[in-house]
Amino acid sequence: MEFTSDFMWGCASAAYQIEGAYNEDGRGMSIWDIHSLNKDVVAYNENGNVACDHYHRYKEDVQLFKQLGIKYYRFSISWTRVLPNGIGEVNEKGLQFYIDLVDELLSNGIEPIVTLHHWDYPYELYKLGGWMNPASPEWFEYYTKIIVDALSDKVKYWITINEPQCIVGCGYYTGTHAPFVHASIIDMITMSHNILLSHGRAVKYIRENAKISPQIGYAPTGPSFVPEDDSEEAIEEARLKTMSMKNSGFFAITWWSDPIFLGKYPDDAYELFGEAMIKPSEEDMKLISQPLDFYAVNIYYSSSIRGDGSTYETNSFQGAPKSTMNWRVDEIVMYWSCKFLYERYKTPILISENGIANIDWVGLNGKVEDPQRIDYISRYLLCINKAMEEGIPVIGYMYWSAIDNFEWACGYDKRFGMIYVDYQTQKRTIKESGHWYKQLIESNGEVLEQYKMLYK
Ligand code: FCB
Repeated sequence: MEFTSDFMWGCASAAYQIEGAYNEDGRGMSIWDIHSLNKDVVAYNENGNVACDHYHRYKEDVQLFKQLGIKYYRFSISWTRVLPNGIGEVNEKGLQFYIDLVDELLSNGIEPIVTLHHWDYPYELYKLGGWMNPASPEWFEYYTKIIVDALSDKVKYWITINEPQCIVGCGYYTGTHAPFVHASIIDMITMSHNILLSHGRAVKYIRENAKISPQIGYAPTGPSFVPEDDSEEAIEEARLKTMSMKNSGFFAITWWSDPIFLGKYPDDAYELFGEAMIKPSEEDMKLISQPLDFYAVNIYYSSSIRGDGSTYETNSFQGAPKSTMNWRVDEIVMYWSCKFLYERYKTPILISENGIANIDWVGLNGKVEDPQRIDYISRYLLCINKAMEEGIPVIGYMYWSAIDNFEWACGYDKRFGMIYVDYQTQKRTIKESGHWYKQLIESNGEVLEQYKMLYK
């Protein structure tokens, strides 16, 4: 197999989805705390108040992570646990939690990857206009400073923002994530630009001030299209659709990655948004486009559609393999995404999320048997391997998720974890996939060798 000897094997999570302790030790409220109080925006009207109670159980959880054999753990910081009002006074107890978590991980041989922002935006800043406010990039820099000053003597890997597509696209366009609203195009452009500037300020701060030499990335997602067949035309069509604004608008890869990696907004954004489109200054684009060490990307399934909007028969037939999210098991997207992203952005790729929600429960034998998850991970990894064989540098894989958690608007129903959580008792059980992952990591992927021929 092509996995390099330093391939980064890990798992990922996000603060609001696992921590709970929403009103303890001085934590302030985020838009998810406040807006999930609305009726019927989250399945069963659930919320992250308790979640996996990771805030109190992080030591037990780190021991379980160790049993998964992971070398890296990607987690995010709850902005309002550290800065209850988003800016201003630091909540020392909240900050201490992350210092302790980092220490606990490192002393158990697990390297932390810190995501600064994974959607739980401070409600107090939202009241001031949130990402619409021209001061929002400064707020983000201030928050970054607090975290970097406290953790960068031990943390080397940083991811600024997770899936900005969903911040704007789901939060303000489809209205399916907090704050569950529909904004105007011009407002969504303003927010996008401020998010990109926030990223830029954070990168600059980390680069100039981190105590140990940092590795910095950013974790967008975005609709990726796969070719309908092997022909050159189909490949070109998939490439163009993947890198176009037309099909995807605020969810597009290029909207969120061209400014950062190419230093300019995509040309078709000007066509799509016309008069509403921003005319950014050179100075802004310079700040936004500082070099990054890796392109972190969350990849789950492809958005393959034909020109007429209908789906490919090859992946959308009745009974096609799907997860409980109704997301297709569609591993070849991993290969094509890595290929198209590397062609365009020429930056080593870290798969910062990939995983499956499955129907899991603790069996009579006490085990959580989840063969679909093992098969799913194998398929996607084989497609990463195929990309690596073609010389595309993929530096690591973070399975989403380490532990079952609060899946945003879908609540607790969707179980992505390698560790099962009984939410009535908070009892954890490592799923069979978790035990298998350990062997996979120990063999550096060699256990997949038997299937390699299937992905030639
Ligand atoms: C991604 C999110 C992550 C989780 C997975 C299933 O879009 O970044 O928090 O919800 O999907």
